[in-house]
Amino acid sequence: MTQHPAHTISQAPMMDWSTRHQRVFMRSITRQSLLYTEMVTAPALVFGDAERLLEHNPAEYPLALQLGGSDPEQLAAATRIAAQHPYYEINLNLGCPSDRVQSGQFGASLMADPVRVRECLQAMASASGPIPISAKIRIGIDEQDPDKTLLPFVEHIADLNLNTLTVHARKAILKGLSPKQNREIPPLQPERAADIKRAMPHLTVVLNGQLENPAVDSAWLNRLDGLMYGRAAYHTPWCLADVDRSIFGDSAPHASPEEALRSCYGYLEGELSKGVPLAHFTRHVLGLFKDRPGARNYRRTLTEDAHKPGAGIDVIERALAHLTLERKTQ
Ligand SMILES: Cc1cc2nc3c(=O)[nH]c(=O)nc-3n(C[C@H](O)[C@H](O)[C@H](O)COP(=O)(O)O)c2cc1C
Repeated sequence: MTQHPAHTISQAPMMDWSTRHQRVFMRSITRQSLLYTEMVTAPALVFGDAERLLEHNPAEYPLALQLGGSDPEQLAAATRIAAQHPYYEINLNLGCPSDRVQSGQFGASLMADPVRVRECLQAMASASGPIPISAKIRIGIDEQDPDKTLLPFVEHIADLNLNTLTVHARKAILKGLSPKQNREIPPLQPERAADIKRAMPHLTVVLNGQLENPAVDSAWLNRLDGLMYGRAAYHTPWCLADVDRSIFGDSAPHASPEEALRSCYGYLEGELSKGVPLAHFTRHVLGLFKDRPGARNYRRTLTEDAHKPGAGIDVIERALAHLTLERKTQ
């Protein structure tokens, strides 16, 4: 039984990381949390292979799609295509620090233009049918002073009935810092997310940024509506293993990480039979046993053997055997 909506705990959108395989794997750890897709740009969806870009498995629901773009008409067209699937919400990326790309402006740079952001979100809402729209923001960009710009920015979109407003609680520096540095260098200011909630209590505000341990972080849920996990969920996925029980009041899907991984074998057999290489799945499960004896050999077996032609589930079993063997020899 879910006592809290799925966005109470979520896994962040992460290009190349939160792939459809990774998301199916995450479902063996938490059934209740909300998972975000990688960002799909609106022009890619409108002019490209939409079926491939939106490919997902019903096991991934509740699933949110993240779009990138800055052209309201194009975002509306992309949303219309996406809305044929039962996404939990369709999210606009206003936090990614990449500057202009070939397909146009998107991400955090849009935070300089609240009027355009409003138009984009309105256009998406007009095309999404019953699926709600949401946004993921930073607390500001470049020389913006969040004391002066953050609340006015949010106020500008606050009446749009957003499903969630996720706040990656640091600024993005578009000039001079790489995307990776932009996830590390600008200081975290989680109180800024709480400021938004205090000023606009009707908004559903989700905190993001270096959260690692739901048991500790859940203290925020007294003041905010949700917690989004990015790198911790990816690198140490078992850190979310207890949230179905502790947050959602459900039972945990699996008692051990081994059980969780083996529960993916049925899915994996299907993918392998379609020609998907084993490594496309196993590269996402390397952090599952982080500090366990044998974890290094588990990772080594997967990284060395999973990309070999014909690699199958036996490679995973061989990797798992290191954990058991090293435990026995201790
Ligand atoms: C590899 C990688 C790819 C990312 N791709 C996206 C993306 O496509 N869209 C987005 O809004 N944020 C993206 N992010 C940012 C994350 O969603 C998140 O905001 C950020 O990592 C901070 O959360 P964390 O400290 O829990 O990792 C990405 C982060 C990483 C590490």
